[in-house]
Amino acid sequence: MRTIARGAEALVSSAKFLDMDAIIKSRLPKSYRDAELDSSLRNARSRKEARLLREARLAGVRTPYVYDVDTHDASITMEFIVGPKIRDVLANDMPDARVVCENIGRALAKLHSKGISHGDLTTSNMILEGEEVCLIDFSLGNMPASEEDLGVDIHLLRRAFMSAHSEVAELFDSLISSYLSHNPGGKAVLAKADEIQKRGRYT
Ligand SMILES: Nc1ncnc2c1ncn2[C@@H]1O[C@H](COP(=O)(O)OP(=O)(O)O)[C@@H](O)[C@H]1O
Ligand SMILES: [Mg+2]
Repeated sequence: MRTIARGAEALVSSAKFLDMDAIIKSRLPKSYRDAELDSSLRNARSRKEARLLREARLAGVRTPYVYDVDTHDASITMEFIVGPKIRDVLANDMPDARVVCENIGRALAKLHSKGISHGDLTTSNMILEGEEVCLIDFSLGNMPASEEDLGVDIHLLRRAFMSAHSEVAELFDSLISSYLSHNPGGKAVLAKADEIQKRGRYT
């Protein structure tokens, strides 16, 4: 096992599942919480994330296959997605940047049309697999999502494009056009995202 990432909530390591390359994402214990409560919270979050990864897949969005959910250590074993994070490759001079952004818009449209929100939609939580966009890290997602949840997704993504990807800000327009053409309820979500931006906060 090799550590790939350690965030505030989870440890991600590479592993094998049967003979396949896999990722194990385990939620770290928080010692300030009562042990029993901590264990049930971490397990509930892992189960929720696994459920959303699966629901998103059923909605036609590329997500890692969930191989196993272990309630002993609140971990998910899932498919290892090979490819760079969108954050690290998205640039104006990248060949097919527009196609990639359209694919992000279409994936998000499919997700939202099924009433699923992602909750932490930044380009660090997207892996480019060929030209396909794979969404990961659904721990803050919801299903059924409220209109506010969906608006937050668009708001966070717009913010990521405008800051981290200022040189590609105009690509966001291609993303949104694609989103709107694949999601009949998209206009209302965009209006919500604008409202959230005006409020200056998103929770
Ligand atoms: N299925 C996967 N395939 C390949 N890399 C992954 C996978 N899941 C997570 N990672 C890597 O681990 C990092 C952290 O995982 P993530 O689910 O985003 O957890 P966190 O909640 O800590 O952000 C990701 O940014 C990515 O680099
Ligand atoms: Mg993440």
